[in-house]
Amino acid sequence: MKLWLFLLALSVVGSFGQEYERGSEEELEAMKKLQRRRWPDRMIPIKFDSNFPQAKRHHVYGAMEALNTLTCVNLVNASESDDRHHILVSNFRPGCFAALGYSKRPGKKSQPLNLNQGCFYGRNKVSYHELLHALGFHHMQVRFERDNFVEVYKDKVNPSQWHNFNKEKGAEGRLAGMGVPYDYNSIMHYPVFAFGINNAQTMKVKKEEFEGDVGVSIIPSRTDLAALNRMYECWDHYLGDDIIDSTPYAKFHGQYFPNPRK
Ligand SMILES: *[C@@H]1O[C@H](CO)[C@@H](O)[C@H](O)[C@H]1NC(C)=O
Repeated sequence: MKLWLFLLALSVVGSFGQEYERGSEEELEAMKKLQRRRWPDRMIPIKFDSNFPQAKRHHVYGAMEALNTLTCVNLVNASESDDRHHILVSNFRPGCFAALGYSKRPGKKSQPLNLNQGCFYGRNKVSYHELLHALGFHHMQVRFERDNFVEVYKDKVNPSQWHNFNKEKGAEGRLAGMGVPYDYNSIMHYPVFAFGINNAQTMKVKKEEFEGDVGVSIIPSRTDLAALNRMYECWDHYLGDDIIDSTPYAKFHGQYFPNPRK
């Protein structure tokens, strides 16, 4: 009888996530910073610059729709007159890039996501990749633990591009992956020839058991989706608890999220 009561008490405490030891001040502060990358109410209005080719928009629409289905964020078409802060998809600058996370700046109604003509290979690959930046995620190979997974040949990296390999640091770096492990199949991982001088190889995979190539995924991996769902507290979506070496989300949330479970 006593044992029963004890177990019952434990499970009640457990269901409110109170059995987890809270992270340090530093870690809770770091998570608050990471949470500032999130879009309010999980709502992400998107507009296209009028010069963005109609024929290329389906890449972005396709990625939006899949992410809306697989996660709890809402990537929505905003009308011309919609005055909410939004992503402006443009093509007037070279390259494929996006501002990291929610980036509202004084006097600006929008934040950039640029896709020029070189950004439409691999079906919707680059649209996914840039949308994940806009939702708050850095490249996989800047994760704080990347040295355990890839060797970076610094002398082969084009010096003007070295910043692309700067690791995330401190508690913010440790928590940025949201408790799911490093993933070679992430859509946020660069290929091993990225930014090489004369196309030299700049990275080598360290885990011999990994077969295949990094940086070639054309859809988000399970860990990409899990990290996104964890960051935005999508409790009803895929959280990656089944991924080897991941911290169960209830535990990760109980330890590090400054706000209680909603
Ligand atoms: C956005 O608009 C396009 C073009 O009309 C449409 O195909 C797509 O389904 C819309 N996406 C969403 C999320 O409403």
